[in-house]
Amino acid sequence: MHGCVGYELYEWIRSQYGDLALLQLLSTASTKPVGFVTMMAYPDEDFFSFMDGASRILKKTRGRLLEEFGMFVAAALVEAHTELIPASWSALDVIEHADSTIHTVVRRENKDASPPYIRCTRTTAGEVKIIYDSPRKICEFGKGIIIGIGRYYGERLDVRETICMHHGHPQCELIVAAAAMSPGPFSHTP
Ligand code: HEM
Repeated sequence: MHGCVGYELYEWIRSQYGDLALLQLLSTASTKPVGFVTMMAYPDEDFFSFMDGASRILKKTRGRLLEEFGMFVAAALVEAHTELIPASWSALDVIEHADSTIHTVVRRENKDASPPYIRCTRTTAGEVKIIYDSPRKICEFGKGIIIGIGRYYGERLDVRETICMHHGHPQCELIVAAAAMSPGPFSHTP
């Protein structure tokens, strides 16, 4: 996993669970510290041992924590890549182009980064379908990133996982839908 993600792990634990939780986690023999250097990659095992340690200490499932971390890291990912994201895009536009524009450029410009190959299709104006089949099998992290991107743009997105690698499927399918807009105070809808 890349250092730009690893760096945020410490910030996430510290801001959501406190310094003590981070110290406790890092002093656990089985938790490997994750590299602080944002421009370098570090072994996936370090990321996973950190998450497993967090799961034991915080008494939450690894999946739940991956989703929470995805929500947290989304803003940093967007802000680190603003040159790739036109100001006119909505959250759903960013998600639609997450691979064709964003992950593709991240892969090209940073040889150490290996974001997953996801397939994003705009099925309707208000919906994107994502196919995810990374060998890391962390669709929960992807779900969190999606919700976090929505929050960053002030848009509520609903994410439904219709099939999942954790249930024996060869890939995960995520359906991301813009939540129905409620009529504003000046709506003329009868
Ligand atoms: C602004 C949008 C996004 C940016 C800038 C971004 C960038 C990145 C970067 C830099 C990584 C780390 C790669 C590495 O560790 O080598 C990553 C990983 C990942 N991204 Fe994205 N991403 C974005 C949107 C998304 C979306 C919408 C999804 C939805 C599924 C997603 C799913 C993932 C997953 C699951 C990983 C973990 C690695 C894996 O599963 O193999 N990303 N992304």
